[in-house]
Amino acid sequence: MAEQPLMNTYGRLPIAFERGEGCWLFDTDGNKYFDTFSGIAVCGLGHCHPSVVDAIKDQAGRLMHCSNLYQIPLQQSLANELCTVSGMDAVFFSNSGAEANEAAIKLARLYGHKLGKESPCIIVMERSFHGRTLATLSATGNRKVQAGFEPLVSGFVRAPFNDIDAIRHIAKSNTNVVAVLLEPIQGEGGLSVADADYLKEIRAICDHNQWLLMLDEVQTGNGRTGHYFAYQGLGIVPDVVTTAKGLGNGFPIGACLARGNAAEIFTPGSHGSTYGGNPLACAAALAVIKTITEQNLCDNARIMGQRIIDGLKSAFDGAQYIADIRGQGLMIGIEMLDTCPELVALARTKGILLNVTSDKVIRLVPPLNITEAEADFLVSSVVQIIKLYAADDRISPR
Ligand SMILES: Cc1ncc(COP(=O)(O)O)c(C=O)c1O
Repeated sequence: MAEQPLMNTYGRLPIAFERGEGCWLFDTDGNKYFDTFSGIAVCGLGHCHPSVVDAIKDQAGRLMHCSNLYQIPLQQSLANELCTVSGMDAVFFSNSGAEANEAAIKLARLYGHKLGKESPCIIVMERSFHGRTLATLSATGNRKVQAGFEPLVSGFVRAPFNDIDAIRHIAKSNTNVVAVLLEPIQGEGGLSVADADYLKEIRAICDHNQWLLMLDEVQTGNGRTGHYFAYQGLGIVPDVVTTAKGLGNGFPIGACLARGNAAEIFTPGSHGSTYGGNPLACAAALAVIKTITEQNLCDNARIMGQRIIDGLKSAFDGAQYIADIRGQGLMIGIEMLDTCPELVALARTKGILLNVTSDKVIRLVPPLNITEAEADFLVSSVVQIIKLYAADDRISPR
């Protein structure tokens, strides 16, 4: 039997936290750490934001769960709020990002069958990440996520990210396509930002072919990129958008939103979830949306994001070991020239929690309500740690 009776799915770091407040986490030995990645883009309001804590406490004492066989007024209120901030028409609630994407995939298949396509197929991207369920890992463009779980779910065709010719080519050669599913910024895929022109072209191709444009905003949504959803800064409107992570600020909830015809595809019995949209989750998410809107946190994410990018660019001007600094709002990547396996451990000894994705991209996704002083502290700490790491000859020069 394993030392701890947990299945061995995570390579866990030797540290445990017992308390959180804003950008800060406190471990079981009483040490304090600055969290640069908010539980991987989840705690957009910071750890234990009082509005969410109060909403959960209050709702927990009234009604936590109620079957979706009944009317759930909080779910209806949350759907209204989400439609208002997104411009979508209808919402299906799930408990996670993967489940939100499962809903989108099922919706696209039903849509395809309604168009008379027997084997509907969805275009997905290289280096994408959509989750760990069988359908979402099959949609994911990362062999490490898929290996060992074959046979994969069929019905996906893959294209290189940001390559519009590849989409045009598929449009000409594959008559089974019914939708395109992609992330506006590939989070797990190394903070790659989709070009606005590329997305506009995809929108036009989808319109021309009666395909659904489906955006996975599990990571980019809920204010992260400086807009409530990233597409709102890109001049396009999708047919379907999925979200999770920041929606509950740590309380598990996901959502699949749709508009127009796509909003009317599901009928009673076609999809469901026991917990999806239960009163407790909805109370948490309503508090999140209210706080983001009332406190103009999308604006703050834009302003603070620019401040952090400017600070990093100026500190690393001419640095041989930095390949790129990029991002939108408070979704920022520092791409190192080489892999940096020991950087996370070094940062931890300095009281900073860092996350590295795609082996060499430091992902900075701090809370949307980060202050100027906290943003400056983040920049100076991260710069100091990377410079120390580079000075130790752990990084080979370009
Ligand atoms: C873009 C994207 N989609 C889907 C998921 C899966 O979300 P979850 O882990 O909540 O199932 C993630 C998680 O990292 C993600 O970043």
